[in-house]
Amino acid sequence: MRRYYIAGNWKMHKTIAEASELARRLKDQLAGTRHKVMIAPPFTALATVSQVLEGSNILLGAQNMGQAEQGAHTGEISVLMLKDIGVSVVILGHSERRLIYGETNELINAKVKLALAHGLEVILCVGETLAQREAGQVDQVVVDQVERGLSGVQEIGRITIAYEPVWAIGTGKNASPADADAVHKVIRQTIARRYGQAAADALIIQYGGSVKPENAAGLMAMENVDGALVGGACLTVDSFVPIVEFDRH
Ligand code: 13P
Repeated sequence: MRRYYIAGNWKMHKTIAEASELARRLKDQLAGTRHKVMIAPPFTALATVSQVLEGSNILLGAQNMGQAEQGAHTGEISVLMLKDIGVSVVILGHSERRLIYGETNELINAKVKLALAHGLEVILCVGETLAQREAGQVDQVVVDQVERGLSGVQEIGRITIAYEPVWAIGTGKNASPADADAVHKVIRQTIARRYGQAAADALIIQYGGSVKPENAAGLMAMENVDGALVGGACLTVDSFVPIVEFDRH
């Protein structure tokens, strides 16, 4: 049976008390899942959620990370701090980081390398804007983001790629399963060119953008969709659990 990787990006939501409560309930309700699950609470709640998740199969993720190990970087969080509290996965290159905070492919690439050097797993996010889609540039944009995000990265084993079309994030409009699969296929071919077919076949490619309980199974049925990176619908047990357990409902 195929094992999927479902991750929840909590974005800028939840106080420590709220985060702790949600994590506790997810730990309970997802104890028996056979899929790989990660949750990425805000930085302020990571330490508490890390304790809540002790003994659980749910991985703890961060939503971003600074590009340096330590030093004069006001407002940043270092990979050493994340590891110190039990984070094992970091989301890098999210479109909100790219578009609101001006993160470039070069900066994202530096973060990817630093995270890998410290043994973290990475979810590298890529995806086109509506204007780029309408201009017929989807493949070009996504391939460029994958290639530049992974520039100089030798080992692909700890990388997951999340395809998140910007126009589908938080809009309620998900990419159709066929459209998502087509882009995922291009991503897999890009990885095959650089790292070989075996690495490409093993690569997990998540889809993100308005994933909800109603559309999860349809997306996951596609050959190249190996999981999901969920935003809004990961903020409650009632919507996140049925997404993770999409094949049981
Ligand atoms: P939504 O699920 O809210 O569309 O967000 C997707 C996302 O950006 C996950 O990283």
